[in-house]
Amino acid sequence: MIAKDEIAKPSTPERAVLDSLELTRLPRHVAVIMDGNGRWAKARHLPRVEGHRAGIASVRATVETAARLGLEGLTLYAFSTENWKRPRLEVLTLMTLLKEYLKRELQNLLDHDIRFRVVGRIDGLDATVVAALKEAMARTEQCGGMVFNVALNYSGRAEIADAARELAAEVVAGTLRLDEIDEERISGRLYTAGLPDPDLLIRTSGEMRVSNFLLWQIAYSEIYVTPVLWPEFRCRHFLEALAEFQRRERRYGGIVEPERVTAPSRQAPREARPHPTAVTR
Ligand code: FPP
Repeated sequence: MIAKDEIAKPSTPERAVLDSLELTRLPRHVAVIMDGNGRWAKARHLPRVEGHRAGIASVRATVETAARLGLEGLTLYAFSTENWKRPRLEVLTLMTLLKEYLKRELQNLLDHDIRFRVVGRIDGLDATVVAALKEAMARTEQCGGMVFNVALNYSGRAEIADAARELAAEVVAGTLRLDEIDEERISGRLYTAGLPDPDLLIRTSGEMRVSNFLLWQIAYSEIYVTPVLWPEFRCRHFLEALAEFQRRERRYGGIVEPERVTAPSRQAPREARPHPTAVTR
């Protein structure tokens, strides 16, 4: 049962959006490309890192809203493999913010029964960051609510390459036949294995790119781009994205049927779905 008052207070603009949603037809998994931190800071004559700092409040609001709505998964793109090219101080600040976030929010994640996971090449991160991430994953491992993935040192192409390498190794070892490699097996080797593919991909700050994010998984995702810069993104904006999602017709390459359009077989009906067991590497 969704406690609407905990998501949005009565008679507020966000409550009006919430009331317009069909709560039985929410996306199961939402992915977000958080963008616009630098521009937000620049517009205020602040250093870029202040945009990232301000973005933490948006992370908190989005995670809480998604969990309270009962979504199965939320994946936030926090640091790509390409982001290492940024100035050292910016990279360092992002990693520090992440550690501070985990320290401050861990209890909140536990209170909301949220399971924290990382998608990406975690071992390429600084040892203190890895330790904080591993602790958060271990402490929330038994949580049965929403899976909250943070994409870190992440690249969609690298993820597919990692999956291909693992499957190839099994073929070489003789534990997998070549003709057994299919889409399901590849999905099962991705960092997001166990979670359904995102139904909705949100990108803030108006950029029309997917930026190497979840390339395999977003094959049929609805894409929603908002001009709102990430540090200003709040519950209302997230709800507006969900409302837009509900206005879209999802056809999965087919035609619109009179009945509700359902996803391909891997996506079981919302009511019947088992609890995901996300695999992280
Ligand atoms: C994109 O803005 C944002 C990022 C690369 C980092 C996002 C990270 C956070 C909000 C903080 C840590 C996250 C968690 C999950 C605690 P940009 O710098 O590319 O903005 P610009 O395009 O305006 O320059």
